[in-house]
Amino acid sequence: MPSISRSPLKEQKIGNLNQGSKASNKSLDRKHWILQQRRSLPIASAERKLVDEVRKNDTMIIVGETGSGKTTQLPQYLFNAGFCRDGKVIGITQPRRVAAITVAKRVAEECDVQLGQKVGYAIRFEDATSGSTRIKYMTDGLLLREALLDPILSRYSVIIVDEAHERTVHTDVLLGLLKKVQGARLKQHKLDKPYANNVVKFDNECHSSNTKFSPLKLIIMSASLDAKGFSEYFGGAKAVYVQGRQYPVVILYTYNPEPDYVDATVITIFQIHLDDNPGDILAFLTGQEEIELVDMLVHERLKQLPEHSRNILTVPIYSSLPSDQQMNVFRPTPFNFRKVILATNIAETSVTIPGVKYVIDPGVVKSRYYNPVTGMESLIIMSISKAQALQRSGRAGREGPGKCFRLYPESEFWKLIDSTVPEIKRCSLSNVVLQLKALGFDDIIGFEFMDKPSRSAIKQSLQELYLLGALTDDCKLSDPVGIQMARFPLDPIYSKALILSREFRCLEEMLIVVAMLSVESIFYSPREKLEEARSAWKKFSSPDGDHLTLVTVFRAAIEYREKSRAATNKEKSIDKSLSRWCRDNFINNRSLKHALDVHSQIKVYLEQMDMSLSSCGDDVLQFRRCLTASFFLNAAEKQPDGSYRVKANGQNVQIHPSSVLFRAKPECIIFTELIQTNQIYVRSVSRAWMPELSKYYDAES
Ligand code: CDP
Ligand code: MG
Repeated sequence: MPSISRSPLKEQKIGNLNQGSKASNKSLDRKHWILQQRRSLPIASAERKLVDEVRKNDTMIIVGETGSGKTTQLPQYLFNAGFCRDGKVIGITQPRRVAAITVAKRVAEECDVQLGQKVGYAIRFEDATSGSTRIKYMTDGLLLREALLDPILSRYSVIIVDEAHERTVHTDVLLGLLKKVQGARLKQHKLDKPYANNVVKFDNECHSSNTKFSPLKLIIMSASLDAKGFSEYFGGAKAVYVQGRQYPVVILYTYNPEPDYVDATVITIFQIHLDDNPGDILAFLTGQEEIELVDMLVHERLKQLPEHSRNILTVPIYSSLPSDQQMNVFRPTPFNFRKVILATNIAETSVTIPGVKYVIDPGVVKSRYYNPVTGMESLIIMSISKAQALQRSGRAGREGPGKCFRLYPESEFWKLIDSTVPEIKRCSLSNVVLQLKALGFDDIIGFEFMDKPSRSAIKQSLQELYLLGALTDDCKLSDPVGIQMARFPLDPIYSKALILSREFRCLEEMLIVVAMLSVESIFYSPREKLEEARSAWKKFSSPDGDHLTLVTVFRAAIEYREKSRAATNKEKSIDKSLSRWCRDNFINNRSLKHALDVHSQIKVYLEQMDMSLSSCGDDVLQFRRCLTASFFLNAAEKQPDGSYRVKANGQNVQIHPSSVLFRAKPECIIFTELIQTNQIYVRSVSRAWMPELSKYYDAES
């Protein structure tokens, strides 16, 4: 059995840091270390074989253990083998933004180039590429948007669909689209003449018409051993397996179900820290809020330990974490410290963090869930699948034997479903339908999905899009509303809200609302300071509801930032003072920063579409009218027992206690978020504007 120790390479790294060697030596050491690490990856010995196979096959499936080097190495192998000749690009899609960013940064470092040059990334609202980028990491959603402008993806010689086993809705749509694109490119190649619009059945204009078209190489990468489904979907495409390296992992279960897995996670972290050997801990949690809660609880309990046992370093990682903080998880653990990584399921397969020896798995994940009866989507915390549980425990055995603490009894494990249901079967399809329509696929029911969503779910989305004005009577994309809606990288209902708010002269306010709603939880409420937090939020609170409250918070933050800017021009000091403002006001600093970022990015789209910002000023009725007109599908009426009934589908919901309208309970509300715990709650709630609402529901009631 392999011995329990950190790899010698890692020790070498820690040693170097402690010796405080000169900068140039340090960077040489780092380069040397990275090179050695690359060579020792399981995929390294398969380089030639993989390149040969890609040359021979237009479509291929590569299956390999997480951490074997697929994402970081394969694009480099293909680049070195000449797949970027003629200025073509290798595109690698990821289901998650964090993975796209962190991997691109890592590969840029491995190639010893500046990020954004040869190696870059692009995600929604952020583009770190240039004309010289040849290895481009991006989210799968982003590549779908690129296809709107360039239907045969002519810049790419190779497209790697990574993490395909995750089967996100974007991945599934992308697979269907790429199949078509590949066919079109091959046809063009055989004709061997420049691309002409009439060859491919797409509506859009092609922006690069003078290049000769080589066939598109398509590589599907997956961490799950089941390559059959992908292979069949691509007409019997070849599957290649990359041998992984997996040390034994001891699995421990609880005797009884845990009533509070957050608490159980914290207790387990300390049990490991105090009783077990050195080695980093990876704990799987469901989202930003939970991660921040565990982080706080760990620090609180650390204070009760003797000084010499306080050597824990916590690092969070989740999708909306600002990109400057994402790389923190990859920093080497300081000497004698134990790193505790608090992660969402992003660390299951997308991102591999070295040094992990202990995994804590509460067995839950936050997922999108669509109720086909009500036509509403919500985020719910649900049990993971057996496949996910195995992936999670596998993270503990990458560098040596490890331990996985499953915070549930073994009998529960056997009750889990074998593998996760593809997202396309459990999410709202409005966005998918809108995108496919914009890509020129009119027959959605006939689209070749790997797993077909139900007919009724497709019909429901068509109906929703029709009600939002995105589709015409004969189910075509409407001009201009549908076309404009498809251009925004947002959920159709939010795009519609922005478009409508121009008419209502409150685009400025709606833009803030959309930006603030696109991040997880703006308000930060530590358990023990809840009252203090509530009184701090009072000054932002609007009697009209949560949406205008969010507008007030955003504007107060901007005002404060501008004041600091007047006092100093140092960005770092401005940043620091905004963080202080957030702390004083119990506002989540990370979420606010993210919202500021999203705000400025959507603004660029608005400018490109010639939509100028106008404010309704003090005329809040105008804003309420607009909110009602935009989200009329999310209107709910009060019932005698104080609960609410959603007008569109009769569902019974409650106002979430965090809403400013929780006590006021107005007769009729508009909500923009549905959360399902033991109850169904609506969060982000405002007073509806009845005269506007009656336009949509009069006939029915
Ligand atoms: O894609 P796959 O799971 O096969 O592996 P990968 O993401 O290419 O990772 C290969 C190795 O690079 C792993 O050992 C990671 O720990 C390391 N890596 C890293 O140190 N820093 C990053 N930002 C990304 C990867
Ligand atoms: Mg990978």
